[in-house]
Amino acid sequence: MPRRGIFVTFEGGEGAGKSTQLGLLAARLRLHGIGVVETREPNGPIRNLLVQGDRAWTPMAETLLHFAARAEHLADTIVPSLDEGAWVLCDRFADSTMAYQGYAQQLGRPAVEKLYRLVAGRLKPDLTLVLDMPVALGLDRTARRQGNETRYEQMGRKFHDAVHEAFLDIAAREPERCVLIDANRPVETVHEAIWASVENRFKVG
Ligand SMILES: Nc1ncnc2c1ncn2[C@@H]1O[C@H](COP(=O)(O)OP(=O)(O)O)[C@@H](O)[C@H]1O
Ligand SMILES: [Mg+2]
Repeated sequence: MPRRGIFVTFEGGEGAGKSTQLGLLAARLRLHGIGVVETREPNGPIRNLLVQGDRAWTPMAETLLHFAARAEHLADTIVPSLDEGAWVLCDRFADSTMAYQGYAQQLGRPAVEKLYRLVAGRLKPDLTLVLDMPVALGLDRTARRQGNETRYEQMGRKFHDAVHEAFLDIAAREPERCVLIDANRPVETVHEAIWASVENRFKVG
């Protein structure tokens, strides 16, 4: 069955504004009568193993957990929603695995690329919005956030600097899929920049 929906992913470091901007884009698309599915990764029962606590998985085990969760997420949500013609907006996706595990935890690009092909085949986001924010500002924002999903936030400044550099490299490698968004601006300004790249690529009017 041909895929009819549009797959948009939000990427970037902690506190960059991904969840905020995903919600705003979803609302604006719905105003245009578009069916939208909002989702996030890691998803499902594996999520807690990855975002809570402080366990030091080996980079390989951690990567496999992300891909195990992703295999389920693709099968139960992403692919069926795209097949039904919805826009799927996903808060983090495989570029986060590449940045966090491939680069910052040093598993390397080839291993993550190989697993991606095994799990997702040729499916790729139609658009990836990479929210770029100074690391210190993003971490400041998440420090003020409630909740126990702090495992990655706690990984230290050096780790998050590596993640930041990784996202810049990932975005530069695939300029046709990835748009780098300066997220260090007011919420509405960032939203307008995101809307401009969406309007520019897809029929939304
Ligand atoms: N452009 C912005 N300017 C100021 N504060 C923001 C902006 N975008 C998001 N925030 C706030 O920063 C915090 C982190 O935003 P969030 O969307 O949760 O980031 P992420 O999902 O990337 O971790 C939230 O408290 C949010 O309200
Ligand atoms: Mg978030």
